[in-house]
Amino acid sequence: MHRPTVPIEGSHVYGDATHVLAEGLRPATAEEIVGPYFPVRPIVSTTNDLTVIAGRELRALGQVVYISGRVTDRRGTPVQNAELEIWQANAAGRYPHPADENTAPIDQNFDGHTKIRTDLEGNWRLKTIKPGGYPVTPDWCRPPHIHFDVRGRASRLVTQMYFEGEPLNEMDILLQRSWGGKETAIAHYVGSTGLPEPNALVAVWNIVLLAG
Ligand SMILES: [Fe+2]
Repeated sequence: MHRPTVPIEGSHVYGDATHVLAEGLRPATAEEIVGPYFPVRPIVSTTNDLTVIAGRELRALGQVVYISGRVTDRRGTPVQNAELEIWQANAAGRYPHPADENTAPIDQNFDGHTKIRTDLEGNWRLKTIKPGGYPVTPDWCRPPHIHFDVRGRASRLVTQMYFEGEPLNEMDILLQRSWGGKETAIAHYVGSTGLPEPNALVAVWNIVLLAG
């Protein structure tokens, strides 16, 4: 069979389709272990505000942080209705978990669990308390982080979100060994004007799922 010796229009993409496809794709958010403090009971809360518990007069102790972001696939297509299960330690670095042997105090006004969903544009938001770090061994203290289990249409991502500028980030074994670029696991602060809480932080963290 005769084969053309000169490229026909558009044929140049065929032999290098993988390369072409890879260009422009965003790196998927790094994966991490679930960790030992996944809630022992199913997460039933769907609140976007972990700083208060319904029926309690006082809010949780610690620095308020507003976190928002968008869930997309690697092409940047928003993933609507993705489910985000979230759990975290309180401001003192203590989980309300029976296996947590940290002697830091439990905060009766902080539950630290919720399950939220993205909107039609893939956006999500959470108001919470910046978690404290906590000791794992005498030589290892975990940096402040929030656990996420994200379920999109096709992908599931278990990971941990960190805060930029934390000295403990550079020494954290889990962050340094995360499956994927560690930069993808770090939330960045943006301006925080007009918020009801003085000194509140505002952070952005976008989540990229492998297949959306
Ligand atoms: Fe943790």
